[in-house]
Parts: sequence; C-alpha cells; structure tokens
Amino acid sequence: MIPLCIPEIKGNEWKYIKECLDTNWVSSVGSFVNKFEEDFSKYINAKKSVVTMNGTTALELALRTLGIGEEDEVIVSSLTFISPINTIKYVGAEPVFADACRDTYVMDADKIEQLITSKTKAIIPVHIYGHPVDMNKIMKIAKKYNLFVIEDATESLGSLYKDKYVGTIGDIGCFSFNGNKLITTGAGGMLVTNNEKYGERAKFLSTQTKVVNENKSFYHPEIGYNFRMPNLLAAMGCAQLENIEKYIKVKREHANIYNNILKGVKGITIPTEKDYAKNVYWLYSILIEDDFPITRDELIKVLEEEGIQSRPFFMPIHNMPPYVNCIHGDMTITNELYDKGINLPSSVGLTIKDIKKVCDKIANVK
Ligand SMILES: Cc1ncc(COP(=O)(O)O)c(C=O)c1O
Repeated sequence: MIPLCIPEIKGNEWKYIKECLDTNWVSSVGSFVNKFEEDFSKYINAKKSVVTMNGTTALELALRTLGIGEEDEVIVSSLTFISPINTIKYVGAEPVFADACRDTYVMDADKIEQLITSKTKAIIPVHIYGHPVDMNKIMKIAKKYNLFVIEDATESLGSLYKDKYVGTIGDIGCFSFNGNKLITTGAGGMLVTNNEKYGERAKFLSTQTKVVNENKSFYHPEIGYNFRMPNLLAAMGCAQLENIEKYIKVKREHANIYNNILKGVKGITIPTEKDYAKNVYWLYSILIEDDFPITRDELIKVLEEEGIQSRPFFMPIHNMPPYVNCIHGDMTITNELYDKGINLPSSVGLTIKDIKKVCDKIANVK
C-alpha cells in the first residue's frame, strides 16, 4: 500500500515526549509549550505564535481575536477543507465564497472585490495543497476596504510568497499539525501574528481569559476558551520542527520527479509554481483533463486496485447542505477543479520507486 500522506517521525520525538512523562509536565503548561511557540515564531519570522489544540481552533481564535461576529461577512475559498468555513459560522458570521484559480487551485484574488458589501469584515485566503494565494492582491484589496486578512496556511507551512512565509502576511495566520500535515503533533494548531496586540489577545482568549490574583485565585474578566495544546504534544512539535527544512526539500524533489514524468502524459495537467511562490507541494495534485482515457473517479479506482491511495480534490463547500444558501460568486473554476483534481501519494517517506510506480500506472491507463 502506498498511502496518501503519512507522517515522518524519525527525530527527537520519543526523547522529548519521554522528558514530559518523566517530569510529569504532561498538561497545558510546560517548557515545550513555550519552546514550540518560540521556535515556530523564529522559523516563520513572526512576532508571536500561540499554540492551539488544532488548526480549526486556531482559525476560530483568529476570528474571535479580531472581533468578527454577528452580522459580519467573511470572504473565503470554497475549494478547501471545511474548517475555515465552519469557524466563520461558530462566531456567528456569514461565509461568502470566492472562486479559485485554475492553475494554482487557490482563491482567485481577482474575483474578490465584486463580493465585498458593507458587511464584509475579513478575507480568509486558504493556501491549499502547498501553493500560496496571490497575497499582494489580497492585501491591496484589504487595505482599500479596511478588511482583516486571516491566512489559512494549514496546508502550506513552509511555502513562500515572495520572500515571506505564508501565514505571516495577513493580520493573522493559522496552521495545523494534524497527522497528515507537513509536521505533526497528532492533533495541534498554531496562530501566528506580527501584531503584538493580537498575539496577546489570542493567548488570553485561548487560556480562558485567566488572570491569577495576588492570593492565587483565578479571575476571568470575559468569556474565554480552552484552546491550549498540552506540553506532551508541543514536545512532539519541537522535534518535528527541527526537521522541517529536510521535509520540504524532499517534498520538492518528489514533486520534481512527478512533474518530469507526468508532464509528457496526454490528458494530465501538472501543478504550477507561480513566479511569486515557493510551493511545498503538501499534497502533489494534478488535473485529469477531458482527453485522458478515463475519468478522475475511474483513475482513483484503478490506483486503489494497485494499492495506491489517492483522493479527489475537496468537494466545494458552497455545495454542502449547511452552506448552499450562502452568497457566492461564479464558481465555474472551483466546480471544474473538483471534477478533475486528484491528490497523489505525497508522504515525505515516499521512495522514488513508489513515485515511479504511481506515474507508471497513470501513464499506462488505456
Ligand atoms: C485548509 C484547512 N483548514 C483547516 C484545517 C483544520 O485543521 P485541523 O484538522 O488541525 O483542525 C485543515 C485540515 O486539517 C485544512 O486542510
């Protein structure tokens, strides 16, 4: 079986987790929590990082930190995992869906302005599968209409937009350390910002707005949340982060091998890397065009029979029952990408033989 995307756990994970167990620092305070936040800020070049239980809570925390709620509209990608859209609803706001670019699969910045109303408060560009959204365009629109930008960078940790890591360009960026992500803590997330006020507010909200009085009693001036990550998981995060550059290098090498073989196969469109981008190819993704001998769904079955796991692109969220009545622009490209897109095996531990096997099966489909 060649899996779609499994973690690589070959560094100091055991050592750091054992240290937590040996010292009893297993819960949500501890040196690894602080270290993970500090190391992450250093890696990504952000002023402040706040660890959370997962990427979804990081996104909810970002919206709450910026005070987005009832009556507000948030423009968001539809071709994405559902988390950012659900979190918009959690805070009582309304998602408004923007279409995607055919070549990069991410939010089309040129189709956003037409969706802005007097209620629009924020944009959530989602950097899916490893490629960045065109952030200069997004930031220009945000400035013109005075909107917040929350980057959902959960799938693109380590990707660059020009010389900046994705997640550090908008007001707040969010990451996930779910088991399938570039680095993992089993479950986990991170909120990052270069605005110290937002960073402090996010930490405060994520720790039940707890203030410790002089007599050690707890005082909570407003409603808070327990979004904290335990020291045990942060320990794993510290170990994983030590290897991130190695993982990115391997992923880019794998994408290169895939590209070189698949670019010559009729009916396949290989992924793009825009001039402004460094793509980490979190999930190596291609399009099965109309002149390929079989459909995308048929190809998934063919690969499965050979023990190769693959997955169709995200089903657009504007077509899901809770969101069918939400406002959206023309979604032609998003719908087309869903029909044609497929994610291929992308684990760091993939071998060149595995990649060649996958490509061989695709190239020889009749
Ligand atoms: C685009 C996107 N946003 C948010 C999330 C949520 O992250 P988590 O699963 O850690 O809550 C995920 C994936 O897991 C994702 O792919």
